[in-house]
Amino acid sequence: MIDKISSATSTPLAPLEFSETLTSWQKTYGRNDLPWQQDVTPYRVLVSELMLQQTQVTTVIPYFKRWLQHFPTVKALADASEDEVMALWQGLGYYSRARNLHKAAKFVVQELNGQLPENAEELRDVPGVGPYTAGAISSFAFNKPAAIVDGNVKRLFCRYFGIEGDIASAKVNKTIWSYAERYTPTFDNRRYAQALLDLGATVCTPRSPDCQQCPLKTSCNALATHRVDVLPEKKAKKKTPTRSGYFLLDINDDGVMLTQRSGNGIWPRLWCLPEILEPLETAPIHGRFKHVFSHYKLEATVFSLPADQSGQRVPIEQLDNYGLPAPIRKYLNTLCT
Ligand code: ADE
Repeated sequence: MIDKISSATSTPLAPLEFSETLTSWQKTYGRNDLPWQQDVTPYRVLVSELMLQQTQVTTVIPYFKRWLQHFPTVKALADASEDEVMALWQGLGYYSRARNLHKAAKFVVQELNGQLPENAEELRDVPGVGPYTAGAISSFAFNKPAAIVDGNVKRLFCRYFGIEGDIASAKVNKTIWSYAERYTPTFDNRRYAQALLDLGATVCTPRSPDCQQCPLKTSCNALATHRVDVLPEKKAKKKTPTRSGYFLLDINDDGVMLTQRSGNGIWPRLWCLPEILEPLETAPIHGRFKHVFSHYKLEATVFSLPADQSGQRVPIEQLDNYGLPAPIRKYLNTLCT
């Protein structure tokens, strides 16, 4: 085993050999039974790709199935209310994705006659569809030769081609995209694109990649030069700051007081315990919870206090019909079970 690894060279395969190696690996070792890979339609791919942007496959699967039951077509989603959409998304986080998906569905119905375009450039006109998602829809839904670059592909390409420099920089991003375009096959790109994601997620993982099992091990630059654990390069991360938040809990037999948040800040337009800006000296503390956002940690204190009447009292059994931030729902669940 060891001698095989040490025979790695840092000369990359040519595009055709590279894509054939990956697609044949994917047939045996890749993921081929994910729900969005069955009955493939552009709409199902759009939904899955937006859900998968910042969330793991295992978390997405039940949300994806529930979503398709409620909104089986792009038209059904376009016709839904924002509250319905947010209620179904709750718990997945990064709620702008839900609003983007809703906007995308309306755009497709109103401007594109209900049909998502096949090529990546035209897909970029759809709200919420960035370069990755456009490539993914073109590849997965239409089997077109479009480049896809997500975090998995970036890591894999940095290692395989020995790309140096901060992975978050524009320069490295450009280099990766140009490799991605050069290496996208004209044939069977659906499987090739899936192979890239699968290899990145299961073998070429961020920590402890399983290089022994990698179909590219004999031509991987990072492996040949003993740099698997230093590529991709990352600038040192700043420590995430902690912020305090203060909420009011007013709950009785008729339900809990909630307010709908504004469109700005955290949890835009979700239903939430009323938030106050300063801690209260006199009100009793009911409890605390923590929540980690991408840019900071929230340490929340919940005070027991009658809220003013600007909110809405929601019966506990109806909470599922409201879009609530996951940590607030979790906090309320601990009271009600
Ligand atoms: N992440 C994004 N798209 C994916 C897909 N089709 N399969 C697995 N993970 C993904």
